[in-house]
Amino acid sequence: MILPNAALTNTFGLQVRAKQFVQAHSLDSLRTALVEAQRSNLPLLILGGGSNFLFVAPQLDAFVIQPALTGIRYTAIADNDVLVTAGAGEVWHQLVLASLEQGLCGLENLALIPGSVGAAPIQNIGAYGVELADCLVSVQAMEIASGNLRHFHKTELQLGYRDSVFKRALKDQYLITEITLLLHRQAPLKTDYDSLAKELAKQAAAPTSAQPKSGLTARQVADAVMAVRRARLPDPAVLGNAGSFFKNPVVSNATANALLQRYPAMPHYPQPDGSVKLAAGWLIEQAGMKGIRRGQAGTHESQALVIVNLGAATGADLLAVAREVRDTVQQQFGVTLEPEVWIIGATL
Ligand code: FAD
Ligand code: EPU
Repeated sequence: MILPNAALTNTFGLQVRAKQFVQAHSLDSLRTALVEAQRSNLPLLILGGGSNFLFVAPQLDAFVIQPALTGIRYTAIADNDVLVTAGAGEVWHQLVLASLEQGLCGLENLALIPGSVGAAPIQNIGAYGVELADCLVSVQAMEIASGNLRHFHKTELQLGYRDSVFKRALKDQYLITEITLLLHRQAPLKTDYDSLAKELAKQAAAPTSAQPKSGLTARQVADAVMAVRRARLPDPAVLGNAGSFFKNPVVSNATANALLQRYPAMPHYPQPDGSVKLAAGWLIEQAGMKGIRRGQAGTHESQALVIVNLGAATGADLLAVAREVRDTVQQQFGVTLEPEVWIIGATL
C-alpha cells in the first residue's frame, strides 16, 4: 500500500515526510512498487534503516521504497562451512546475533552496526578490522528499470573501503533483495584492532563467570566490540546521529609524510597500494572541533567524527556543522573530508 505524505524515521532524529512511501515485503510487491515509482515521476529513494542519511529539508519530494524482505537460511556446505542467506529487510545486528547463536563466526566484529542487511553491501560496512567483503559471497538484486533479478558474485562488486559498484557504475540501478555470506564453525578470530585488543585485554584481566577460562570465543569478541562501541559511539535512540559523518581520508604517501613531519603523533594506516589512510576523527579533534556546539547541532565529545543532533536540530543545522568541520580541517591540514552519510536535498 502506498502511503502519501508518510512520516519517516532516521537515526538523526529528524522529522521527515515523504511524498509517497511503500514498504515491500515480497519480490512481487517490490516489482509493483517500482512500476508505481516510475509512474509517479518522482525521484526514487531506497530506504533501509535510515542510519546513514541526512535529510536536509523536512519535506522529501521522493517515492520512497523500503525493502522489507525477511528470512535467514543456513546451508551447511562442509563440516566447517555454512552459507547464510538473509533478506534485505533483516536488521543487520539481529543477523549477527542469530549467526552467533548458530555457533558461527565471521560477523562478530560487525556487531551493533545499525541498519538493514540490504544496505550492508552498498558501502561494504566495516568495523574493528573486518568488513563485509571478508565473508560476502554474493548479492541478489532487482534491476530498478526492469524488475529483473540478477545475482552478483562478490568479485563483481568492487568492494573497497566504504565503497562498492552500487555507489559507482551501478548507482541507482539496483535494489538489493538478499545477500549470501560464508561463515565458519571455527576460524581465526580477528582481534588486532587497537581499541578491541585493549578491551579484550581488560576483560581477560577481570574475567566474569560466563567467560571460559581459556580460548576466546566469537561471542566474547562480539561482546568486546559492543562494549567499545557503547563507550565511544552515541546511541541514536538517545542522541541523534548517523555514525561517522565523514569517511577516513586516503591520501598519497607524500602527503602523509609531509603531515607526519608537522604532526608526528598523527594516526596513519599505510594501504596495500602505497596510499595512506588518516583518521578523520583525529584531524577534527586536532582542529579544535571535537564536542563543538552550534545551537542544537554539534560533534560528539567522545568521537569527533560523529555529528550529533542534541534534540531539536534541523537538517540544515546539521549540514552547517558538517560544512564547518570540513572547512576547518581543510584549512588546518589541507585534507578534504568526504561525507560517508547520504545527504539528501543539498550538497556538502
Ligand atoms: P540507509 O541509511 O537506509 O541507506 C544507506 C544507503 O543504502 C542509501 O544510499 C540507501 O538508498 C541504500 N540502500 C539501503 N537499502 C538498500 C537496498 N536494499 N538496496 C539498495 N540500496 C539500499 N557503518 C559502518 O560501515 N561501520 C560502522 O561501524 C558503523 N557504525 C555506525 C554507528 C552508528 C551509531 C550509526 C547511526 C551508523 C553507523 N554506520 C556504520 C553507518 C550505517 O550503519 C551503515 O551505513 C548501514 O549499512 C546503513 O544501513 P541502513 O539500512 O540504515 O541504510
Ligand atoms: N580519534 C581521535 N579523536 C576522535 C576520534 C578518533 O583522536 O575524536 C583517533 C583514535 O584515537 C584512533 C583513530 O582516530 O587513533 C581511529 O579512531 P577509531 O578507532 O574510533 O575509528 P574511526 O576511524 O574514527 C572507524 C569507522 C567506524 C568504525 C570504527 C571501528 C570510518 C569513517 N569510521 O572510525 O565506522 O566503527 O572505525 O572500526 O571508517 C561508521 O562508518 O559510521 C562508523 C562508525
